[in-house]
Amino acid sequence: MKEQIAAIRTEAAGFDISTADALEQYRLRFLSKKGLVSELFEAFRSVSGEDKKLYGKEINLLKQEVEGRWTAQKEVLESGPAAIDNSFDATRPPQPLGLGSRHPLSLVRQEIIRFFEAQGFNISEGHEVVDDWHNFGALNFDEDHPARDMQDTFFVQTDPDILLRTHTSTVQVKEMQLGNLPIRTISPGRVYRNETVSARSHMQFHQVEGLYIAENVSFADLKQTLYLFATEFFGRDLKVRFRASYFPFTEPSAEMDVSCFICNQAGCSVCKQTGWVEILGCGMVDPQVLENCGIDSKRYSGYAFGMGIERMTMLKYQMKDIRLFFENDLRFLRQFSSEL
Ligand code: DAH
Repeated sequence: MKEQIAAIRTEAAGFDISTADALEQYRLRFLSKKGLVSELFEAFRSVSGEDKKLYGKEINLLKQEVEGRWTAQKEVLESGPAAIDNSFDATRPPQPLGLGSRHPLSLVRQEIIRFFEAQGFNISEGHEVVDDWHNFGALNFDEDHPARDMQDTFFVQTDPDILLRTHTSTVQVKEMQLGNLPIRTISPGRVYRNETVSARSHMQFHQVEGLYIAENVSFADLKQTLYLFATEFFGRDLKVRFRASYFPFTEPSAEMDVSCFICNQAGCSVCKQTGWVEILGCGMVDPQVLENCGIDSKRYSGYAFGMGIERMTMLKYQMKDIRLFFENDLRFLRQFSSEL
């Protein structure tokens, strides 16, 4: 009996079960009613008292082993072709990777940067978290100026002297304090305002600030540079106009309009039937601001301007809702170029 058990064990372990057919042969040979294991149980009946204990255990163990091998392989075969998929071909060329597209704000920011770089401007950046003096004080915002109000500015709760910058004009202050004159710099960046989010306004957006300070800089220099910029950005046969305005840090101050490039001044919803579209604020840097930042206002003068990147992008692509910029909806983003 001992030899018989050993022989079945060896045969079962070496039996080919790689296919479903072979596995069925295995079952018939060892596990069916007339199979070798059943035969063994038959023979076991006639084993005498002493040996019964010993062999009973052995035969049960063998049965478990033979059955175990069958069940395991059955599972493998039944779990489908994926589990034993050897069709993977490492030499096959891969699926081409789809190129993403540039965010429209990146495209427009880059276009603005490119223009001003060609005019000799460098790029400067500042912090998004600044103190009151850099965002307001140095730029002549009075203590009770409404822009400091909780309505407009995000202050740090534990220290109301620290805030999220509300405009990139704060980079002007930093650059003037550094004092590497002449200064000819543009500062693109993100700004924050405590505004209700709607189609027209957002609590975060982007601006580009421009600053030129040297000897004998005049309003004519400002007009020339911005005129060139606007015609480059929106189209060559554009008209521009400068409207007198007010900013605490420039004197005189102006807002620049371009003739409506949508309706050619016939009147439409973009220009609100006026024929003109406002694109930026600008002016001559107030001598007091120069002095606040340690620059001799008798020797130096300068101009500054600031524009919203979202606004420029919405005008350029005729978009009506600012929220689209921050929703990351691929159906929107895919419409833009992948190149900067
Ligand atoms: N800082 C202004 C704003 O956020 C924009 C601006 C206006 C910037 C006139 C300037 C400027 O540099 O001269 O509304």
